[in-house]
Amino acid sequence: MHHILVVEDNFDILAVMQDLLEGDGYRVSLANNGYEGLQAFDREVPDLIISDLMMPRLDGFGLLEAVRAQTRGAGVPFLFLSARTDTAMTTRARSLGADDYLFKPFAPEDLLIAVRSKLDRRRTLQLFDTRSAHLQTVTMLANTIEARESYTRGHVDRVQKYALALAQALGWNAEALAICAFGAILHDIGKIQVPRRILNKRRPLTHSEWVLLRRHPEIGARMLQGIDHLHDAIPYVLCHHERWDGRGYPARLIGRTVPSEGRLLAIVDSFDAMTSDRPYRRALGLERALAEIQRGANAQFDPVMVEAFLGLDFAALDVH
Ligand SMILES: [Fe+2]
Repeated sequence: MHHILVVEDNFDILAVMQDLLEGDGYRVSLANNGYEGLQAFDREVPDLIISDLMMPRLDGFGLLEAVRAQTRGAGVPFLFLSARTDTAMTTRARSLGADDYLFKPFAPEDLLIAVRSKLDRRRTLQLFDTRSAHLQTVTMLANTIEARESYTRGHVDRVQKYALALAQALGWNAEALAICAFGAILHDIGKIQVPRRILNKRRPLTHSEWVLLRRHPEIGARMLQGIDHLHDAIPYVLCHHERWDGRGYPARLIGRTVPSEGRLLAIVDSFDAMTSDRPYRRALGLERALAEIQRGANAQFDPVMVEAFLGLDFAALDVH
């Protein structure tokens, strides 16, 4: 149950708001001025604060500033109640980080709508926080795996950067971009089961070594199978070595039967390999690498994605 702190020096308004909010299923704490409101906040951080502006002892601005000054108060939505007349005040409230305000007298439905929308937004932000925490954990894991290969330093980070740029250029939505951030980082996670001597071998691999190395997409996909919040990243992991012409692995999918995630990652993964030094060859310059990608359109790569890729701003991506 969401907990709402209401701070208001008019007892009648306070009672009305308590009835309304409790009637809508919220738990409500009440305070009669900013000072009491701050004490209530210190006792228990609410999910939302609704506060009057003009109050004795500490006004609404003072309360907002004190709440925002605390780490745990930085993300709590703050809704001001104010008289309709004073625009200077509402401007100041905004600049201090108030999320919204409601003019008195307000209709009950307006209050409930404002409260619901603030709480929804907070939930979205919290979800995003959880996501970024997962992303950090996953990045750490990917970096550990990357460290097993002596010549791929920075590969994971760069691949993620290029993948997001290409996905954005293709107009993917926010949800798809968030999954892309995970997928790009995790794409080679199956290499954890490939012996180091194979990953770091300078001479050409034997047939049986190739067979082992080429299992990494399936190994990675299996690793992610049972992890709910990483499940959506599987197409990146499983399909980044498939080819548009059907000559890739592991499933030899062809054309658009290769999931778009795999088609996208194939381009950026190859591009980073071309533009990075390897023990047996120097990096290609940007122009030559782009020419190679272009040559791969309709063979290794999806031609529509290649076109979008060639249009990226490579200086902004720090490739020269
Ligand atoms: Fe790979």
